[in-house]
Amino acid sequence: MSEPATIGIDLGTTYSVAAIVENNRPRVISDTGGGYTIPSIVAVDDKGNRLVGQAAKRQVLINPIHTIYGVKRLIGRDIQSPVVRKIQDHFKYRITSDEHADVLIKIREEPYGLEEISAIILDHVRNLAQDSLGREVARAVVTVPAYFNDRQRQAVRDAGKIAQIDVLRIINEPTAAALAYGFGKALHQKLAVYDFGGGTFDVSILEVRDNVFEVLATGGDTFLGGVDFDNRLAELMIHRFQKEHGIDLFKDPICHQRIKDACEQAKIDLSSRPETRVHIPFITMGPSGALNIDYTVKREEFEQLCEDLIGNTLVACRQVMADAKLKSEDLDAVLLVGGSTRIPLVARKVADFFGKAPSKGIHPDEAVALGAAIMADSLARKGEGEIQLLDVLPMTIGIKAAGGKMVPIFPRNSPYPNQKLKVFTTSKDQQQSLKLTILQGDKATAAENEIIGDFTFSGIHPAAKGQAKVETVFTLNHEGILTVAARDPDTGAARESVLQIQAAGHKPIHPDLIALKKPMEKKAGETVISATVTREVKLKAGTAPPPGPETAKAPEKTPPPPQPQPPKPVRPAKESALAGLVSRLKRLFQRG
Ligand SMILES: Nc1ncnc2c1ncn2[C@@H]1O[C@H](COP(=O)(O)OP(=O)(O)OP(=O)(O)O)[C@@H](O)[C@H]1O
Ligand SMILES: [Mg+2]
Repeated sequence: MSEPATIGIDLGTTYSVAAIVENNRPRVISDTGGGYTIPSIVAVDDKGNRLVGQAAKRQVLINPIHTIYGVKRLIGRDIQSPVVRKIQDHFKYRITSDEHADVLIKIREEPYGLEEISAIILDHVRNLAQDSLGREVARAVVTVPAYFNDRQRQAVRDAGKIAQIDVLRIINEPTAAALAYGFGKALHQKLAVYDFGGGTFDVSILEVRDNVFEVLATGGDTFLGGVDFDNRLAELMIHRFQKEHGIDLFKDPICHQRIKDACEQAKIDLSSRPETRVHIPFITMGPSGALNIDYTVKREEFEQLCEDLIGNTLVACRQVMADAKLKSEDLDAVLLVGGSTRIPLVARKVADFFGKAPSKGIHPDEAVALGAAIMADSLARKGEGEIQLLDVLPMTIGIKAAGGKMVPIFPRNSPYPNQKLKVFTTSKDQQQSLKLTILQGDKATAAENEIIGDFTFSGIHPAAKGQAKVETVFTLNHEGILTVAARDPDTGAARESVLQIQAAGHKPIHPDLIALKKPMEKKAGETVISATVTREVKLKAGTAPPPGPETAKAPEKTPPPPQPQPPKPVRPAKESALAGLVSRLKRLFQRG
């Protein structure tokens, strides 16, 4: 039997794409019909059948309440977040939450976590790839928007676990696009990657030196995409209809869905034509019979309607250029990625902004999946080292201070992998535990930022206040995912503490999904995935991870950390990541 394949998966808001490297050439994997974009849609029909991808998309009009799309906009978010509230007004499916305030979606009375819906999509992508390749797909590199926070990344990781895909690495979409553009070409260039997809907008500035892809700055908006253009056009149609007939079509989910579908098509038409017609027969009943929507939309009209959306992307472009300390003359190429960059006004405005025609070297729909496949192939065959991706944090990670302020640990655009040590002292007599609320966001007050998790250390030895210390190590791995570990430096070696971050992904998995992976792929004796996904760090006193180079600077206003134990020998993989970090820090210091 042939060896299991390793693929790249672009898990998109509207469409997902899979790609593979064969004979050193990356290519997208098409299904038997020749198509390669897979709608990121899951539905359950009235007979209880689960439908995914094209099958789910085809029936959305007759089943809008139980057809779930756009989950990437919700994944890893808190039910209280403004984004979720905004979505509740636009999406027809039912959104609720669990006891951790994580978002759940109800499909035919069954609650599903966003990781579960995403797992169903990943599973479908894997199955299509398996059918097309004729062999098992066991491993993948999955992409996420650069602007995803820790919790969103963790949720995608959890989705991979539920789907029983060995996710070798989560990488950022713009970095993947840059890989597709520059891998193996011995380039020495600075690039801007402008990725405007269905639901998210990302812009990153990268420096490519041979096979080192270093992100200098990143920014964007996880709530801005092609869907917003569709909605603008749909609102215009609904408005015109109301003016003409006095009927509000917004309230009827089926009508609204039909209008949005027609408007997406009209938007796509307007990318290649000066005007188009939005024609929907029998949209509703009027006093004297059936009524149609039939309006003409000119490209200029559409452009006026959406100009501010494009303007918002340019605000983010200005910010990342400032963060990267670059002027447009410094850039060698501008890459356009994502379906929404096909809108002529988008391409024009981006070209004007950067003062440069976009590169023709990559395909806007394929680049991200191809880059993921290149990374997957490299990791599967050579392991760490061949390609070095040096990425940066999209938003500050910090902790909540007593007065409700956010105290940064890793500021925005901090490179990762990265590690910082903070030493806390007790503030009460006999204090035995320390609780930290970890946040991500760029606002000064904690409440305005997203909570990543609570971290509690309860192994402090009893002492008068200010006498006991807790050494806390914050580690960002090469996926930008945070782990926190702590130890009491004064206690004996026998002491062990189990530390836990409360975060998304604690829920028992939906019973239906336990057998997601196709039965034929199950190896003998393989057990189903464990029922809970937790983020635990087990530490023995004295075995805290050695502080990284960042910690060489003494932490502010805290006593100097006691000498850590000599570090254990690091595995080669880690060593290369750390070596990369050290050389990167050296370069950063030289630069600034
Ligand atoms: N010719 C076109 N003109 C305008 N918009 C288009 C065109 N073709 C596709 N789109 C839009 O592009 C969007 C899909 O883009 P893409 O497949 O890159 O997004 P995605 O990867 O699913 O989303 P994301 O990257 O945000 O997660 C849809 O909103 C679609 O309507
Ligand atoms: Mg995309």
